[in-house]
Amino acid sequence: MHVGAITGVASGSPFDPASPQAGAIRDLFTSALLICGAVFLVVTCLLGYCVVRFRAKDDEEPEQIAGNTRLEIAWTIAPVLIVSWLLALTVRAMGTSDPPIDRDPDVTIIAHQWWWEARYPSGVITANEIHVPVGRPLVVRLESSDVIHDFWVPELGRKLDATPGRTGNIWLEADRPGTYAGACAEYCGAQHAWMRILVVAETAAEFAQWQSHQLAAAPVAIEGSAARGAATFRSMTCVSCHAISGGTENARVAPDLTHIAARTTIGAGALPNTPAALAQWLHNPQEIKPGCHMPDAQLTDAQVSDLVAYLETLR
Ligand code: CUA
Repeated sequence: MHVGAITGVASGSPFDPASPQAGAIRDLFTSALLICGAVFLVVTCLLGYCVVRFRAKDDEEPEQIAGNTRLEIAWTIAPVLIVSWLLALTVRAMGTSDPPIDRDPDVTIIAHQWWWEARYPSGVITANEIHVPVGRPLVVRLESSDVIHDFWVPELGRKLDATPGRTGNIWLEADRPGTYAGACAEYCGAQHAWMRILVVAETAAEFAQWQSHQLAAAPVAIEGSAARGAATFRSMTCVSCHAISGGTENARVAPDLTHIAARTTIGAGALPNTPAALAQWLHNPQEIKPGCHMPDAQLTDAQVSDLVAYLETLR
């Protein structure tokens, strides 16, 4: 089961680029493959020809040859030209795909074992699902809170490591609206495989609407099961790791839940975000994502259904 099976978003292919950066990388790969393929073909044909044409037909010692200036010049110049050509193509692709280092980020993505935190300068904080305006190149700053991870959304651009203690910049741009699936591309522990990210590219107006909605506080005037769930959330350990509408800075070790109900998946892609899946997750996250940092809180059925009712109000 992969994230596409859950969310209806097919895992992206770098051969189907949706940004100038990913396009440059695809073109570089294709050109390098064609050039190297042509070299392989020429060398193999020449070798085959020589093997057949100059095969010894008797036991006589073959003619002894030393040096051939014209051939030696040719097989020195030809590789130099080919390698220079490859270098020129590479430099051109790097020019398109490498972001400037001196620009403030449009979004900061912090990799955690095993989820992605996204922070926008506007104050939006979300997890595992980020929105971007279509056709606008954004600078994403990558950080890590624990080990080395690697951010990769194949249709949108290159990979980049998220290294603890260092920051790295990467372009993130989408030419057309859509949802692009990405993943952690560096082995980072038990749940490396469930460290998925979705990039939702939408029009500038839709993006602005999403952003202002994300900035809105969670509803407070709730009653019944949801109100009991809110009380459970605050009285148990949940609140010391997860933030809802602010919370303490400590409550940043786990995904911000202020608008969790608006997201597509939970557990960084491990389950679809449905009430049933949420209940399954709350009963024992360790069964779904063994080794993840959310413990089994030994919640009762009633507590789980109250919590689910509460979380469902966080649209
Ligand atoms: Cu994070 Cu692999």
